[in-house]
Amino acid sequence: MSAPTLDRPTDEAALQRQFEATIAADRRVEPRDWMPEGYRRTLIRQIAQHAHSEIIGMQPEGDWLLAAPSLRRKAILLAKVQDEAGHGMYLYSAAETLGADRADLTDKLIEKKQKYSSIFNYPTLTYADVGVIGWLVDGAAICNQVPLCRSSYGPYARAMIRVCKEESFHQRQGYELLMTMMRGTPEQRAMVQDAVDRWWWPSLMMFGPPDDDSPNSAQSMAWGIKRHSNDELRQRYVDMTVPQAEFLGVTLPDPELRLDPDTGRHRFGAIDWSEFKAVLAGNGPCNDERIARRRAARDDNAWVTEAATAYAEKHAGAVA
Ligand SMILES: [Fe+2]
Ligand SMILES: [Fe+2]
Repeated sequence: MSAPTLDRPTDEAALQRQFEATIAADRRVEPRDWMPEGYRRTLIRQIAQHAHSEIIGMQPEGDWLLAAPSLRRKAILLAKVQDEAGHGMYLYSAAETLGADRADLTDKLIEKKQKYSSIFNYPTLTYADVGVIGWLVDGAAICNQVPLCRSSYGPYARAMIRVCKEESFHQRQGYELLMTMMRGTPEQRAMVQDAVDRWWWPSLMMFGPPDDDSPNSAQSMAWGIKRHSNDELRQRYVDMTVPQAEFLGVTLPDPELRLDPDTGRHRFGAIDWSEFKAVLAGNGPCNDERIARRRAARDDNAWVTEAATAYAEKHAGAVA
């Protein structure tokens, strides 16, 4: 709970102390509250990046909507891709509560001034990729996002609660699809294994650079925006996923992966951070295609926004 408006201190040092007390007491910061400019900027950057990832993330799976192997699979995939659009909208709304402008954020994405998750720059080559994205990519997103439900910024934390419930459906639909394919023909099982081979390492990169190369992490954790380090979340994901891979009957493509009996946690091989940096810098297999499509969607559909705005203005005038 915030202090009532009338009790608000007016000088910056007192406002800063009040903000720090809110964070220390694990209370939520709300849009009307004073906040340091760095906190606001960090949140806008993180929430925008998250929103862009949801929106760009519709593309790799959306490519399979017309080629889904049955009406049931098509309905499930359509629902999933629509959920991702909804996640993007919640998150842009959360960014707007911090003073950001939605159209401006989209422009920054298209002009490559803001980033989105590197994972969505890989192609979806077969229908097994749809299942593997649900299992691994949505699974990694859950590991990342569940702690964000306790993020210090109220609108972001609340958006994450619903998003996480839907991500859990996404992961299950992916795993169920893969279980079905693994009960199928040898060719279908080979398709699943091939997709796992291609997506495993990029999914580990979703947690971001290692802790000793993550310059903003310490400040984000001090502000309660982030609750766990990149490496801790990555480790949780590996520990959660290995038994699922065993149950599914696939091999994770890492000869060094093994359970450490002393810690009860899995050790895994070195991640190729040069690949991560190249993809993030715009040189992944699909970066240009993803941005070109987003640009075309903005430009081709501008008339819808214009028409809706004109209608709203006309309606507002009629009511007045
Ligand atoms: Fe999502
Ligand atoms: Fe999802």
